[in-house]
Amino acid sequence: MSDPRTPAHAPAHHQLGGHHQHGHQQHAHPVEDDAALAEVLDLDAEVLADHLAAIIYWLPLDAEPRHVLDLGAGTGAGTFALLHRFPTARVTAVDASPGHLLRLREKAHALGLADRVATVQADLDADRWPELGTPDLVWASASMHHMADPGRALRRIRDLLAPHGLFALVELAGFPRFLPADAPADRPGLEERCHAATDHLHAAHVPHRGADWGPLLTAAGLTVTGERTVTVDIAATEHPSVGRYALAGLRRIRTAAAQYLDPADLAALDRLTDADGPGSIALRPDLAARTERQVWAARR
Ligand SMILES: C[S@@+](CC[C@H](N)C(=O)[O-])C[C@H]1O[C@@H](n2cnc3c(N)ncnc32)[C@H](O)[C@@H]1O
Repeated sequence: MSDPRTPAHAPAHHQLGGHHQHGHQQHAHPVEDDAALAEVLDLDAEVLADHLAAIIYWLPLDAEPRHVLDLGAGTGAGTFALLHRFPTARVTAVDASPGHLLRLREKAHALGLADRVATVQADLDADRWPELGTPDLVWASASMHHMADPGRALRRIRDLLAPHGLFALVELAGFPRFLPADAPADRPGLEERCHAATDHLHAAHVPHRGADWGPLLTAAGLTVTGERTVTVDIAATEHPSVGRYALAGLRRIRTAAAQYLDPADLAALDRLTDADGPGSIALRPDLAARTERQVWAARR
């Protein structure tokens, strides 16, 4: 998942059942923006759960990892999928957002997994990373493109990894699409125009989104041992959360794109994102979540 936003936050460690803080300070971050993103991340995890599980099963691991590091963990999509796949592993979830990590900890408690998860609030763009141990598996999904200097982050990951360890990088070129290209009937191509309207924001804030990460991994001293592309195309009839995912996703795009859109496009977008209206995207028979994930597995 990716979106136009200003990354943020102040670092702190939080071991479930007891925590300590350490600290350098980062940029300001609006809480409501965090909450809206958290909703989209949760829905993304729900809708793409089978694809995420398939990616984790595919990872070319020599042995079951004991310590997993989830970098830019968000609300825990990867963390919980990894805990499920590796029932004896502990996961350290790192993120800059205190709101996302709070949500992750609440989920861990609710699932009875609190003793297997530690959260660390930290800005991965900072000059120093906190102590993160020697993980057997480092997982970074849709987070590396947020780094100000991805090469530096990848070199740090190389240095952190256990000698036999694996780095799993999951990235994406853009936000999912929910409508056919010729929809809606009164404003065909609306969704693409919304994305085009925010292209300059992505170019400014997340210029590495959609990068070819293979050469970047190699330049950081890692050896790519596997690579695959996972295509996602889930019709609303196949998954009960696609409608809510589309509503939350398009509302978020509206926030960023509204000021750049033609008034007729904005009005059409408002009809689609009105959950209770007759034009709600959630009611459309042609609704589907379509996206791609690129995955790289790399070793030291
Ligand atoms: C698109 S979300 C992906 C979250 C999660 N990995 C997933 O797949 O659902 C990107 C995450 O990276 C985090 N992030 C962005 N910049 C960061 C930074 N400099 N330091 C730490 N985390 C950061 C954000 O707070 C957000 O949770």
